Amino acid sequence: MKGKKKIVMLTAYDAPFARILSDCGVDIILVGDSVGNSLLGYESTIPVTLDDIIHHSAAVARGKPNSLIVADMPFMSYKISEEQALENCAAALQEGGAEAVKMEGSGRVADRVEAVVEAGIPVMGHIGLTPQSIYEFGGYRVQGRTSESAEMLVQQARRLEDAGAFALVIELVPSDTAKMITEAVEIPTIGIGAGPHCDGQVLVLWDMLGLFEEFKPKFVKKYANIRAVVSDAVRDYVSEVREGSFPDPEHSFEMEEENTGRLYGRERPSE
Ligand code: KIV
Repeated sequence: MKGKKKIVMLTAYDAPFARILSDCGVDIILVGDSVGNSLLGYESTIPVTLDDIIHHSAAVARGKPNSLIVADMPFMSYKISEEQALENCAAALQEGGAEAVKMEGSGRVADRVEAVVEAGIPVMGHIGLTPQSIYEFGGYRVQGRTSESAEMLVQQARRLEDAGAFALVIELVPSDTAKMITEAVEIPTIGIGAGPHCDGQVLVLWDMLGLFEEFKPKFVKKYANIRAVVSDAVRDYVSEVREGSFPDPEHSFEMEEENTGRLYGRERPSE
């Protein structure tokens, strides 16, 4: 699709949303480790485990989306050794029903990418701001702002392409840096906070649906206000239950009249 049609990627963590995304024409569903911040109540992606990713990826797979399912390999699940990376990526496919995996970083990670691709598992790379290394970066800061750091990101992208990655996520870099990277590699780039020049775009589903009130990064466009929709529905439910107007006859089951007659006509043993 590179150079022909923009690639659309979103995260999802469960079957019904996987189905919706697929029906709406999303090309790639990422079972991101953003499940940690989005659904599991963590403050970062670091506590997310391989079991979490497998659990959510399997749910996405059960939704039978037509989109490509990519499982995000969580913190330290591919860095300890080549063997560990191979075993864990295999589990993401075998147990999680994913069709590809994503790994953050380049350098030594590119060697892991090479080994996993050689084993027949497609790998998506991820460079720029890589949230699993947040303590190394010292915060969620835009990367590749200088010409030197932009050049370094280009080198990282080329290394991942050579290692066999089929696509690259580029996170939180200036548009010009993302453009340079996109033009430097033949594999597609998928940006998040990386401007309009990438070959595709990704957002975290719950951010673009507007689930969180306080979380407002510059690169997230809210396409809906799901928090308000859910709050209105729940408030209506609370007040209808309190006042006794729910459930009404439309949402209740009734007995045949002859049975209610018998029921109420019968004397109870204690009476
Ligand atoms: O975990 C995730 O959702 C991601 C995207 C931000 C690309 O890695």
